[in-house]
Amino acid sequence: MEEFRQKLHRDLRPTTLWGYNRQFPGPTIDTDQGNQMHIKWINNLPDKHLLPVDKSIHHLAHQPEVRTVTHLHGSVTTPESDGYPEAWFTKDFKKVGPAFQQQVYHYPNKQRATTLWYHDHAMGITRLNVYAGLAGMYIIRGTQEREMNIPNDPYEIPLIIMDRTTNEDGSLYYPAQPNNPTTNTPNPSISPAFIGDKILVNGKIWPYFEVEPRKYRFRILNASNTRGYQLYLSSGAPLYQIGSDGGFLPNTVKANTINIEPAERVDVIVDFSKYKENSIILKNDLGPNADPDDETNEIMQFRVQLPLKQRDHTIIPTYLSTIPSLKQNKIKAVRNLKLIGLNDDYGRPLLLLDNKKWGDPITETPELGSTEIWSIINVTGFSHPIHIHLVQFQLLDRRAFDLAHYNKDGRIIYTDSPAPPQPNEKGWKDTISAPSAQITRVISKFAPYTGKYVWHCHILEHEDYDMMRPFKVIDPNNQ
Ligand code: C2O
Ligand code: CU
Ligand code: CU
Repeated sequence: MEEFRQKLHRDLRPTTLWGYNRQFPGPTIDTDQGNQMHIKWINNLPDKHLLPVDKSIHHLAHQPEVRTVTHLHGSVTTPESDGYPEAWFTKDFKKVGPAFQQQVYHYPNKQRATTLWYHDHAMGITRLNVYAGLAGMYIIRGTQEREMNIPNDPYEIPLIIMDRTTNEDGSLYYPAQPNNPTTNTPNPSISPAFIGDKILVNGKIWPYFEVEPRKYRFRILNASNTRGYQLYLSSGAPLYQIGSDGGFLPNTVKANTINIEPAERVDVIVDFSKYKENSIILKNDLGPNADPDDETNEIMQFRVQLPLKQRDHTIIPTYLSTIPSLKQNKIKAVRNLKLIGLNDDYGRPLLLLDNKKWGDPITETPELGSTEIWSIINVTGFSHPIHIHLVQFQLLDRRAFDLAHYNKDGRIIYTDSPAPPQPNEKGWKDTISAPSAQITRVISKFAPYTGKYVWHCHILEHEDYDMMRPFKVIDPNNQ
């Protein structure tokens, strides 16, 4: 991890960034299932942070300003290699956090083939470290996709989407304080959300990509801090979604728009064969109330200008994979977990998981190998992408309730019957949208490791304050 400069756009001066191997985003790590890997994460960053650090949260005034710890999102790894937020370390490993002091991480890659991503996870500054550039893609490949006759290299491309705001001199802008600070608000202070005014794909602002008139596979990752996207193509052509967070879906889902929340991945096939000599824009639907001057309704452009090198024999399969339902398992525990919003001593929003802060005692202790249902009850006014480490889970359903009534007397009155998952949510997930005034139920089997992990909202401004909690997988026979 180093500081360096990189051009984000032709018309912009180089931007100072933090990145893995001096790249933004970091290098795409591409490996085969079962091929275990060791990575030594080396912090070679300056002592001073690139962005404003709020020292009023998580006792950060007493800690080194620049701390890093890398998490491989969606991976099945031991706690020591998972990037626990308190397993941070400073430059040259000189100072270390209170948990798991380890620099070489082990990745077994023994899970289902899929698109993962690695990013920083340091306590209280994750939003700043990731915004500075510490994120990259990580692909685990299986034998199945090689036999499937779907587009592959060089017609399989990662698309890492994120938003940033830049200053005139090309430097990154990140707010030092929320929009309406009072005299009480610390400076710097965390903001409850961050939305950038420019969209980047693979480190370039509003780029274009030249394609042949044929099928492509795009592994799309939303690596933004807060922003979700509603993807669609300006040509009106469909997106064929074949995969989600945890690999192939049961069946291909033909969609006109696809929602992607922070940290989610969608694997899609796009067919450009009918669009020779045309340009197609990958767009972001901002909804009916969008500001007409808001340019974030565009993501990138595909120019169908390259000659077709050879006939495209690839297909868009209908059937993709079998996903055994976890519902058949014995359910060891059902946990009701509320997403709630309060105000802190400075009058700032404080978002919590089940009314508990990071530092409160661990309350979620699933037994090794057991299956649990987590009912996420969102009583805040907006949706949160909830992520659980270690596992890939399944969405059971979502059920709407009357939030106004809940706010009056704390009772949950359902306003509808449970809604089943959308077709593109019928695969494995590690991050799930939990909308406001709904109960989102997920089912997961906690295995194969015991020990301390975390679950959190993946809006990084929420995760840092304070929508993150530890959980501990315990072995009931061996405590
Ligand atoms: Cu992608 Cu705990 O995070
Ligand atoms: Cu994760
Ligand atoms: Cu959130």
